[in-house]
Amino acid sequence: MSDKKIALVTGANKGIGYEIAAGLGALGWSVGVGAREQTRRDAAVARLRDSGVDAFGVPLDVTDDPSVAAAADLIAERAGRLDALVNNAGITGGGPQQPSSVDPAVIRTVVETNVIGVIRVTNAMLPMLRRSASPRIVNMSSSVGSLTRQSGPGGETSTGPVAVAYAPSKSFLNAVTLQYVRELADTNILINCACPGYVATDLNGFRGLRTPQQGAATAIHLATLPDGGPTGGFFEDAGVVPW
Ligand SMILES: NC(=O)c1ccc[n+]([C@@H]2O[C@H](COP(=O)([O-])OP(=O)(O)OC[C@H]3O[C@@H](n4cnc5c(N)ncnc54)[C@H](OP(=O)(O)O)[C@@H]3O)[C@@H](O)[C@H]2O)c1
Repeated sequence: MSDKKIALVTGANKGIGYEIAAGLGALGWSVGVGAREQTRRDAAVARLRDSGVDAFGVPLDVTDDPSVAAAADLIAERAGRLDALVNNAGITGGGPQQPSSVDPAVIRTVVETNVIGVIRVTNAMLPMLRRSASPRIVNMSSSVGSLTRQSGPGGETSTGPVAVAYAPSKSFLNAVTLQYVRELADTNILINCACPGYVATDLNGFRGLRTPQQGAATAIHLATLPDGGPTGGFFEDAGVVPW
């Protein structure tokens, strides 16, 4: 087993996930680039390697049990353990998502990726996280899933547009995260949610105001927390996000 820290980032072929992989790589980590499509995965791995990152491709569709099982086998064979899992892959489900007119199929699809996908990947990787001296799980959430902000006076600038599939999927993910925190309270696994801010990526037609590098910073921080660091929190660059 290598002393080098090893991470898996889901949805790392582009956007914020790619920059999380790049940032962890720049810190000397070996990074598994989780991505479901081979051409995009290979291109991302090649770009990361060109910039000096010890990156390797991990075929991974978070909605597909056999794909996730194979990804776990790949990590087990390569490293035998996992120091950080960053559950970054996510979708909005497209829009508009007015509650009164939404197609329930959109909600199912979004929850399958943004919530059940995270559970599927986390459970597959837990045995290897348990073999790490300092395991970390980072779930890429969004402040649009903050019930406090949704019900506050901020309006669309702080909570995004009405989106009955996407926003509640992140509230659901936050709630699921806390269930893991409770179950794993007697372990040394630090588990937190990150919000990247409003970032210009494919997810929002590049309308976001922050760069993917800026959006990656909180997740990188949470993936590399020192022992004794926070767990069960929800963080953005400015600090704690209220649930
Ligand atoms: N951008 C923002 O302003 C913002 C704000 C708050 C939170 N977030 C969250 O940040 C995370 C990253 O988003 P992003 O903005 O970087 O979006 P993005 O550029 O669209 O990237 C999303 C990534 O997730 C992958 N993905 C989607 N479904 C997948 C599946 N079933 N299996 C594996 N990978 C899958 C995509 O792969 P493909 O290329 O194959 O589609 C892509 O790599 C998401 O969880 C998002 O909800 C983003």
